[in-house]
Amino acid sequence: MQEEAIPVSRDPDVIQADLPVLVYRDRRRRWLVLPRDTPKLHTHLGILDVSALVGQKYGVTATTTLGDELFVLKPTIEDLVMKLARKTQVIYPKDLGLISVKLGVHAGSRIVETGTGSGATTALMAYLVQPTGMVFTYDLNPEFQGVARKNIERLGLSNFVSFKIGDSRLGFDEGGMDAGILDVGDPWEVVKSMKESLKPSAPMAAITPTTNQAEKLVAKMKDEGFVAVETVEILLRHLEARVGMTRPSNIMVGHTAYLTFGRKTAGLPRA
Ligand SMILES: C[S@@+](CC[C@H](N)C(=O)[O-])C[C@H]1O[C@@H](n2cnc3c(N)ncnc32)[C@H](O)[C@@H]1O
Repeated sequence: MQEEAIPVSRDPDVIQADLPVLVYRDRRRRWLVLPRDTPKLHTHLGILDVSALVGQKYGVTATTTLGDELFVLKPTIEDLVMKLARKTQVIYPKDLGLISVKLGVHAGSRIVETGTGSGATTALMAYLVQPTGMVFTYDLNPEFQGVARKNIERLGLSNFVSFKIGDSRLGFDEGGMDAGILDVGDPWEVVKSMKESLKPSAPMAAITPTTNQAEKLVAKMKDEGFVAVETVEILLRHLEARVGMTRPSNIMVGHTAYLTFGRKTAGLPRA
């Protein structure tokens, strides 16, 4: 007699075949896998039977064929965003954190963003604005946006993103936006479009890899009547914390991007 399949619980604390798990050893050795697609995970620490984890609770410790222990964790949005397929440079979590706070992003926010790139920023914003908000994201390049669209689908966030192909220098379709994000090579060319799309007082953030770009951007933002304009860089330094011998890590990411923020006003009277 054929055994009846036992339905796997949809308990959010239980590992599911169709939801990703984070197999973690340390900061450098971690794998994001879908048990359905990767029943066996081959690592240099041995093979892990991922299919056997389905139905167990996140947080379990699993042993590889070589006897090494790996920790099976529920991925956070940071884990998911950092493992997305990439066609472009993405904004890193240390920068995304401040951007989210400065823009005051919350459930229900309506955000305009350009360019979509690989969709890392789009993914975090969609995660934060759900279940009632929306991210309107623009890119010139349909190929890049195709990758982003798949990334967002995989995360189950498609209902909170509207994908648009177009040149942001020519304007955005949406008005009355709560916040805006610029991550294009010439953001000063898009400041006017951004101003027109934002509601009065709304914040914007722009990402520039070089100081020359930041300078041009700030000048344009001030010219367009943005206030509270500030540019910052976030340096993230890890510590090797061990009792009696804690010290900074030898290796550090020296630079990712400069972040410029500002708030829209109706415009300053010209002299
Ligand atoms: C660095 S990527 C954005 C990465 C994205 N923020 C992320 O975290 O994944 C820059 C993107 O801007 C797009 N882009 C550049 N100029 C543009 C413009 N004028 N209008 C729309 N998209 C533009 C490029 O095609 C590219 O995909």
